[in-house]
Amino acid sequence: MMKSEWVAKGFADEPIENKENLVEMILQLKREKNAVILGHYYQRSEIQDIADFVGDSLAMAQWAAKVEADVLVVCGVHFMGETAKILCPDKMVLVPDLNAGCSLADSCPADKFAEFVAAHPDHQVISYVNTSAAVKAHTDVVVTSSNARQIVESFPQDAKLIFGPDRNLGGYINSITGRNMLLWDGACHVHSQFSVEALIELKKQYPDAAVLAHPECKGVILKLADVIGSTAALLSYAQKSDKHQFIVVTESGILHEMQKSCPNKEFIPAPPETVEGGATCSCNECNYMRLNTLEKVYNCLRYEYPQIEVDADIAAKAIKPIERMLELSEKLVK
Ligand code: 13P
Ligand code: SF4
Repeated sequence: MMKSEWVAKGFADEPIENKENLVEMILQLKREKNAVILGHYYQRSEIQDIADFVGDSLAMAQWAAKVEADVLVVCGVHFMGETAKILCPDKMVLVPDLNAGCSLADSCPADKFAEFVAAHPDHQVISYVNTSAAVKAHTDVVVTSSNARQIVESFPQDAKLIFGPDRNLGGYINSITGRNMLLWDGACHVHSQFSVEALIELKKQYPDAAVLAHPECKGVILKLADVIGSTAALLSYAQKSDKHQFIVVTESGILHEMQKSCPNKEFIPAPPETVEGGATCSCNECNYMRLNTLEKVYNCLRYEYPQIEVDADIAAKAIKPIERMLELSEKLVK
């Protein structure tokens, strides 16, 4: 069943009775349909709590590639659903809300990226996983923030490389590997929005805290960080560290798992800058990630809508750089 108003809205917007049992109703539907739920660390806490698997972008792709199920519910953003569908073409891949896009992926339109690649025919192309399948189809190898360094270093030092679409991650990888990759000029609106002044203030307020930052943040923020890494790497550092306080400079959804796994440690979210240039007192949240709700998870499973479909020609090209990433990750990332 698919209603035209759902198509217009991008999700199955149906009233739900007995909402007080919503979690049990989702788990029941999951069993009936042999479905699994994958969630990213930036999802709302209540979604992370019902997911079969919660992880970063790399772990989600690795998990999707090997999980046995008929239906995958990808609680994240659209490119994560596409990656899962490309890796599992025979499974039904659902996302709770098709409007959950990504400003970073949007900053790299496939036709413009194809022109950029064509203008540098002697370069190999590395794309961050935060891209559309159509951009991946113009890519030699995909990376995530968990494996970008190792995969870039697997190319000869003098290899000519294009890196897209995140200029901050690309610039950071250039700086730690001594490469001079050509960078696509894209960015994530969440990570490029952290306030430098507020972070300096927080460091003064919590002098013993370690600053944990995601490499999608601007270089000026990364200079103030003690640890730079993917969401999984930052979480792992917090779990192993002897420190008790951490200033977290990435989307604030990760604080849920940090606090859950380290109940005796303190996590302080760094705030974004306001349009006027000051800092807000709110957390930095990705409005796309937050579009997914328990209600939408229930309705997408119930009505099997919205499903992710990827054009067959694009999928046939995009799977190669994704599989290359998974193989290289297996070999290079300990
Ligand atoms: P990771 O999951 O690789 O840390 O990436 C963060 C991100 O922005 C996902 O959208
Ligand atoms: Fe995209 Fe940024 Fe949201 Fe991640 S946090 S999904 S990179 S917009």
